[in-house]
Amino acid sequence: ATILLLHGPNLNLIGRREPEIYGKITLASINQELQSAAQAAGHQLLHLQSNSEHELIERIHQAGHEGVDFILFNPAAFTHTSIALRDALLAVAIPFIELHLSNVHQREAFRQQSFFSDIALGVICGFGAGSYRLALAAALETLASSHP
Ligand code: DQA
Repeated sequence: ATILLLHGPNLNLIGRREPEIYGKITLASINQELQSAAQAAGHQLLHLQSNSEHELIERIHQAGHEGVDFILFNPAAFTHTSIALRDALLAVAIPFIELHLSNVHQREAFRQQSFFSDIALGVICGFGAGSYRLALAAALETLASSHP
């Protein structure tokens, strides 16, 4: 299957950005690790980070045309603001997992609202880079049970 890993705004800076919250690992190493893990399980993993809502929406539309089977999405600050990204995911109807490095429920009140959680297959947050590994593991399990 084809899995698309999407990262929202400012995630290009992780490793350097507020490391006490987001950890020291870089986005490039997360991408690389997930790509090899997906490949080892017989799948293909594509990835995109964008600081622009527009580009993320276009990528989700394209995923619909390409036949992407599953999306792993850290919408970052767009989690709390973007009805447009929510609508894009509803439009393509590709199953997705919402994930966050930090435990958003432990933080400011405005981070506790998500435009994605109620339409996601599931939500993983609070494990730093581990959130990405756990989200991929959940995706692989879901894919295995849908194509036995
Ligand atoms: C984040 C949490 C968001 O609230 C924040 O805006 C981010 C990153 C996370 O991965 O913990 O940029 O999605």
